[in-house]
Amino acid sequence: MSIDTREFRQALGCFATGITVVTARDGAGLPVGLTANSFNSVSLDPPLVLWSLSLYSNKLAVFQNCSHWTVNVLAADQQGLSQRFAQSESDRFAGLAYSDGLGGAPRLDGCCAYFECRNETHYAGGDHLIFLGEVERFERHDRPPLLYFGGRYRQLGEV
Ligand SMILES: Cc1cc2nc3c(=O)[nH]c(=O)nc-3n(C[C@H](O)[C@H](O)[C@H](O)COP(=O)(O)O)c2cc1C
Repeated sequence: MSIDTREFRQALGCFATGITVVTARDGAGLPVGLTANSFNSVSLDPPLVLWSLSLYSNKLAVFQNCSHWTVNVLAADQQGLSQRFAQSESDRFAGLAYSDGLGGAPRLDGCCAYFECRNETHYAGGDHLIFLGEVERFERHDRPPLLYFGGRYRQLGEV
């Protein structure tokens, strides 16, 4: 079966997700991060989560080699952060409020939840690499989430 890429993307967009920024520290100690909605839960015991990274990302080597990464689950009022971490910028962290999670992987202030993960393993997945992490620490805040559906940002309760 031949797949029409545009149709395929539109069909995938029917699956509503939250939005995360996945962060780490590179070998020089600089913070890195990107917007990702491929995040998902995998296992409760042991606590495992996953997300996938494009093979074309210039951050591939950083995420393959770091000890830990943090999944920052964005809140409804953090659409600007999602845009910032999806665009090419020299320093995505400039002027941002954040603290260091395990392995120095940044925790951006104001998120709904944080999952600080040991970089357990990764698997080949076509044009992406699937990262599996063991959650070593997590935190939850009672804030509404930022949603993504049909290629657009959404809010809870929106029709
Ligand atoms: C809503 C949204 C979700 C995204 N999800 C992912 C993802 O799961 N994996 C990925 O590799 N890129 C994803 N991207 C694209 C990356 O954020 C973007 O290509 C990346 O930040 C580019 O930076 P880089 O070239 O420095 O890696 C997403 C972008 C948006 C706007």
